[in-house]
Amino acid sequence: MSDREVFEPLARGALVPNLASYRRLHARSLEDPDTFWAEEARNLHWKQPPPSGAPLLTYNLDPSRGQVFTRFMPGAITNVCYNALDIHVLRGNGDRVAYFCEGNDPKDVATVTYKELLGLVCRFANVLKKHGIKKGDSVLICMPMVTEAVVGMLACARIGAVHSVVFAGFSADSLAERIYDCRAKIVLTVFAFWRGTKLIELKNIIEDALHKVETKYTYKINKCIVLPHINTVATANGGDPKVRASWNNARDLWWVDECETVDNFCQVEWMDAEDPLFILYTSGSTGQPKGVVHTTAGYLVYASTTFKYVFDYKPSDVYFCTADVGWITGHTYLVYGPLANCATSVLFSGTPFHPDNDRFWDIIAKYRVSIFYTAPTAIRSLMKFGDEYVKRHDLSSLRILGSVGEPINREAWLWFRSVVGNNKCSIVDTYWQTETGGHIITPLPGATPMKPGSASFPFFGVEPTLLDDNGAIIKGPGEGYLVFKRPWPGIMRTILNNHKRFQETYFAKFPGYFFTGDGARRDQDGYLWITGRVDDMLNVSGHLMSTAQVEGALAEHSAIAEAAVVARPHPIKGESLYCFVTVNKTHRFDNVLAQELKKLVRDKIGAFAAPDEIQNAPNLPKTRSGKIMRRILRKVATGDRDVGDTSTLADENVIEELFANRRP
Ligand code: WTA
Repeated sequence: MSDREVFEPLARGALVPNLASYRRLHARSLEDPDTFWAEEARNLHWKQPPPSGAPLLTYNLDPSRGQVFTRFMPGAITNVCYNALDIHVLRGNGDRVAYFCEGNDPKDVATVTYKELLGLVCRFANVLKKHGIKKGDSVLICMPMVTEAVVGMLACARIGAVHSVVFAGFSADSLAERIYDCRAKIVLTVFAFWRGTKLIELKNIIEDALHKVETKYTYKINKCIVLPHINTVATANGGDPKVRASWNNARDLWWVDECETVDNFCQVEWMDAEDPLFILYTSGSTGQPKGVVHTTAGYLVYASTTFKYVFDYKPSDVYFCTADVGWITGHTYLVYGPLANCATSVLFSGTPFHPDNDRFWDIIAKYRVSIFYTAPTAIRSLMKFGDEYVKRHDLSSLRILGSVGEPINREAWLWFRSVVGNNKCSIVDTYWQTETGGHIITPLPGATPMKPGSASFPFFGVEPTLLDDNGAIIKGPGEGYLVFKRPWPGIMRTILNNHKRFQETYFAKFPGYFFTGDGARRDQDGYLWITGRVDDMLNVSGHLMSTAQVEGALAEHSAIAEAAVVARPHPIKGESLYCFVTVNKTHRFDNVLAQELKKLVRDKIGAFAAPDEIQNAPNLPKTRSGKIMRRILRKVATGDRDVGDTSTLADENVIEELFANRRP
């Protein structure tokens, strides 16, 4: 990586046209954030604006001074769904396309306009109401990338219910934990769906999860609303899919049947600025997922503003974000950000490799996509098939490319720019988190000279700081902990039912700052380079998980006495899981056990968490106080003999043994 390699921004006529105007606007947003955000909020609809003269953004980030909080626009009243749909229809844009829906099968396509989406949402909101859902109730959504997933989210927002979307790749155990944690009253799902050539029988997984919710947590949901199936499933299944999954007549309902009997008008529930909009679970370093809570006004304004500037959105654009609705990128940049801007998006429910490895490029050409937002892991996995797949398609409509989820390596960045973007597109490497609600460090496509691999500069209203181990501020070039001295409107407000954990996780290490858990380096030009997690978190293909979570799953096997998990760099996934296990006296380590352990992790957490390697470790490297030294395990995993200082180890002989058992 070179700090000096710079590419000029290429977006012409951009909202922020050059670096000087970015700097001016950024300085203004920090000097007077209220005026900056008030101007941005003006584009949205407020049933009642905040009381005049009252401060818009108030906060305390120092637990020693009392409760940590952020509030934005207190006293304002609005509804996020109204801003996503109704205002566009009222302003005469009802016939604009909200989503081009592209199924797993390239022939499975549909178009949904804003007016149509509003109708679907109103009907479904009435279904939820009919089943007793009221303001503040939780609805859990576990669905693939179908229009109805978006409909479910917006229907909740419309009536003030709080949605909790869980990625449809989680195991029944993970789902059960989440259903119970948010005390979901209703679960929305689909019967089954295709991911590439694989049929996922989601209803059966949900069934398992609901059984666990009842037996393990003695909690019961009211209803499970099931979207029948997605086109090809019925035929592939050889008949009526309804009979293939277990069905509980008292609890399970078919989505379509329910929508037939309700009205297509539904009044919105007007919400206070700080009413919760959704919960989204993210991994925590203890292994227990954290229910990140986002609220109404701040999230809406932040999603809408970042979408507009970071993608330099214009009404003529067609936008394609490949993220799944189950992750924060799907929430902010597939649903709320684009809809608040009345954008036209592609909603794609397949994989980049089906029916062939050019699926993304095919979709870009088909819809004349101008803004394409994806993850480094996808870019790396497509790069390996060579340029031919890309070159087969006319990608000349592209003007902006985006990357999210993990650091993007220089090679992938350059390939993205030259092969996909034909050297004509700006790349925005957007750094952010589930917790931050939206982009916080990112180039702007018309303004920021790009350095491959650097997320560059803060978004408006965002003020990053680097701290050293002692909490001292690092000025100028240097590397340290990435923290923020002040919040922005879209930052998370709390962890569901656990404000104490919220304060401890994000504000205890450096009181007065929001700590991201990431490290970063600032170069001589002031560019920020995210160096990755500094806590016990792993990022596999952009999926964040904690070592503790995987270790917990491994330890559930009766043969395992102890497990320790580290990340090993992986050419495509970014990082992969490398596990060390100590087998108890009554068992032997062999290949069969290793396979069982891999399966166990898949079953407990989800397929995306499947370990790459399991190593036999009769002993783990521990300090005298019994703490596992992961630093040493990381060296073993990568085969790096330069293990550094080992004087604190209880038994230094462990190192040789670990290297002897190492997996290639
Ligand atoms: C990592 C995803 C480097 C980071 C939006 C962060 C990145 C975690 C980038 C959050 C980027 C995300 N460059 N690292 N552009 N974007 N990350 O909550 O470690 O799923 O803390 O949110 O992903 O992952 P999450």
